[in-house]
Amino acid sequence: MSPHDTVFEKADFPKCETCHSNHLIMKPELHWVGTTDSSLCINCHDANDGTAGFRTAEQIYNSLSDLYAAHGKAAAKVDEAEYKGMMITDLRFQLREVKQSLIKARTVVHAFNAARIIEVVEPGLLEAAKVYEAAVQEVDEYYFRRKGLGVATLIITILAIALYLKIRSIEK
Ligand code: HEC
Ligand code: HEC
Repeated sequence: MSPHDTVFEKADFPKCETCHSNHLIMKPELHWVGTTDSSLCINCHDANDGTAGFRTAEQIYNSLSDLYAAHGKAAAKVDEAEYKGMMITDLRFQLREVKQSLIKARTVVHAFNAARIIEVVEPGLLEAAKVYEAAVQEVDEYYFRRKGLGVATLIITILAIALYLKIRSIEK
């Protein structure tokens, strides 16, 4: 569905290599799309070329980077909860779905159509927000339990001291 399909053919641009290279296939990265100096899009598009290319590049970049960021933020919170010893197996599973949206979005880039990217990114963002919230709750729960343990230890210590004093006074 890429708008590049027929134009690249006419211009004799290799369909994939033009952006991905061949022998030195590079790992695709977010900055490839967009309008910064390191983006591929600006090799052929500028704001006044009379096509939707430049604006679309910016929109795709924004959507993708939102999803990359949301995935990163949720993953970091899940890691934190796991590090604190909380049960996060379900969250890891949900996080995989966010990752799945990200993989899909990175391939749907090739439709070079902002609406089609948003269609894939939106559910990913919702899922990422859910995972993040749940991980925050796990971390809160950890601190709540730790406080509870502190209070319980304090009460037990006071009881032990009182018991010791009582035994001593009985012995006397
Ligand atoms: C106009 C530039 C352009 C062309 C042409 C192009 N791609 Fe891409 N490709 C991209 C961009 C941009 C990304 C997403 C980079 C990101 O977000 O990490 C991408 C990502 C990918 C990914 C995902 C990689 C991953 O690690 O998840 C695959 C697979 C891919 N392209 C295959 C192809 C194939 C096959 C062709 C030819 C049919 C092709 N691309 C043509 C720009 C292009
Ligand atoms: C090798 C040159 C080249 C590169 C690199 C390139 N494009 Fe294009 N792009 C074209 C050409 C040529 C057209 C067809 C323009 C026309 O219709 O006159 C086009 C068309 C488009 C269109 C359709 C525009 C319209 O108004 O219908 C979009 C959207 C687009 N490109 C986005 C991108 C994005 C996003 C990137 C970066 C990932 C990119 N392009 C990279 C050459 C390129």
